[in-house]
Amino acid sequence: MTYKPERQVVLVVDDAPENIDVLAGILSSNYRVKVALNGKKALEIASSDDAPHIILLDIMMPGMDGIDVCKRLKENPDTKGIPVVFVTAKGEMSDETQGFAVGAVDYITKPVNPQLVSARVKTHLALYYQNKHLEEVVAARTSELNSAFNKLKAASIDTILRLSRAADYKDDDTGVHVIRMSNYAAAVATQLGHDKTFIENLLWAAPMHDIGKIGIPDRILLKPGKLDKEEWEFMQRHSEMGSNILMGSDSEIIQLAEVVALTHHEKWDGSGYPRGLKGEDIPISGRITAIADVFDALTTKRPYKEPFSIEKSFAIIKEGKGKHFDPNVVDAFFAAEENILKIKKRYQDGSIIPMSPLAPN
Ligand SMILES: [Fe+2]
Repeated sequence: MTYKPERQVVLVVDDAPENIDVLAGILSSNYRVKVALNGKKALEIASSDDAPHIILLDIMMPGMDGIDVCKRLKENPDTKGIPVVFVTAKGEMSDETQGFAVGAVDYITKPVNPQLVSARVKTHLALYYQNKHLEEVVAARTSELNSAFNKLKAASIDTILRLSRAADYKDDDTGVHVIRMSNYAAAVATQLGHDKTFIENLLWAAPMHDIGKIGIPDRILLKPGKLDKEEWEFMQRHSEMGSNILMGSDSEIIQLAEVVALTHHEKWDGSGYPRGLKGEDIPISGRITAIADVFDALTTKRPYKEPFSIEKSFAIIKEGKGKHFDPNVVDAFFAAEENILKIKKRYQDGSIIPMSPLAPN
């Protein structure tokens, strides 16, 4: 409802028709006047499609009195914003006090003074609807700001994904591995009951888990056969290289990505790398991305292997419960099996992945 200075609707509620006539006579030249002879009718009109912009409400009425009507108006989300002015017979001061307590904006005493009625109605309409207009302006500005913030966030996530894709480009030029793996990680985190912020941060942090591979020479990274001891030791350095690349950021996502890069090859039983962390010493983001990364590696083609079947891959994950993987994370992974398989289907190898986080899935 925007502010309109003319032809606003005033609802006059009074059980005495002569009082209504007086008020209608004062107001009808500037406003559309609706009338109600009792509280029930007043509530009906107030919540109708053609609701009044202000209500002049008698207090002493048979049946539902004005105080009760006002209370009910203020309890109903559809009508609580309509300003209510009590019109009371002189000497009902305690009623007036009670009237303010139930949410009226003003009161006028009977017999009414026409100029006063016109002035008060005009003032309250202007105040209320100008405030409302201001609220609308603020809401619109807030929404513009949110939208600008979301665009900025989307741009930064877009950069993250492209950077991750760059690191992975030599063995996966579609970027599909990082997208699939980070979606698996988010599905497991959701199953574990993590909050929305953590899940979203993990979704955007996980793609950077192997960013340190940028520092691994091609002869090792792309070697079709098994790596020798020295090559393997060098390969393992991608965890620390990744964490060094991401270190010291103010961004929560990059901070999480740093942890993920450093810890996604740690194993629950302490046999992982680079630090040989054990059990819950491994940050949960590392424990989750470990399973997501391994499952994706098992089910996809690599230079040194054909993809394993889902069944075989699931069996390997189960076998790793309590050894390679956190048992709770394994349970969450299988509890989220349906989602995991949906993600695998959606982001198949060779699919063109929309890089922008704003692109529809
Ligand atoms: Fe890795």
